[in-house]
Amino acid sequence: MQQIALAVIGGTGVYNLAQLDDVQTHDVETRFGTPSGPIRVGTLLGHRVAFLARHGEGHSLPPHKINYRANLAALQQVGAQRVLALNTVGGITDAFGPRVLACPEQIIDYTWGRISTLCEEPGSDVLHVDFGHPYTPMLRSKILAAAKVTGVTVHDGGCYGATQGPRLETIAEIARLRRDGCDLVGMTGMPEAALARELGLDYACLAIIANWAAGCGDGEEITMAEVLANVQAASNGLPELVGELARG
Ligand code: HPA
Repeated sequence: MQQIALAVIGGTGVYNLAQLDDVQTHDVETRFGTPSGPIRVGTLLGHRVAFLARHGEGHSLPPHKINYRANLAALQQVGAQRVLALNTVGGITDAFGPRVLACPEQIIDYTWGRISTLCEEPGSDVLHVDFGHPYTPMLRSKILAAAKVTGVTVHDGGCYGATQGPRLETIAEIARLRRDGCDLVGMTGMPEAALARELGLDYACLAIIANWAAGCGDGEEITMAEVLANVQAASNGLPELVGELARG
């Protein structure tokens, strides 16, 4: 198996990695089925990096239809041990406004009806993995260090509230998330993080804040155009950050 320094899962608005060279495309099948799309393995600033678009390359999969198990297993099958999850999110609390990048350290899971464990099939061993720190602390530290080296501003910390989608939230739902202690809201953070832990992968999130969540900020209606423009604006430094993270 080839050595992959880092796997990156792209979220809404991130369908490829700029500066990924010598790309090979892998159509991978896993014991959990087919991932969201092909895995592209290439060289980024001298390091082997794998990339997968979480929603499919044409953004054809809603959050509850993504085969999170197959995505992670496929990345593991091509040789990845560390996963950087890019998640496009809404911001709830003051430090998490549009175009901010954040590396959250906690999660609250509000999703339902998703396959959220590897031990789904009858007869499989039941795993009760420790999930107190849902993101691998060492990988979080490395993301923050890589951000510093490359001059990319990344907010350290925050709690990610994972909602079901695909619709955005009501103002009352976001008020509840705020009371619960959430700083960010997105639709794809879970069960991905828990499955990564069950698979024994190192996994951490770099959240790209695309909009104020419902009722936050100026309270304006959230549009897809705003989301995509802010993701693009916030992603400028990503290739350098990812390259530096892959180095160490
Ligand atoms: N809520 C949930 N998911 C999101 C949002 C949001 O406001 N923005 C981008 N992804």
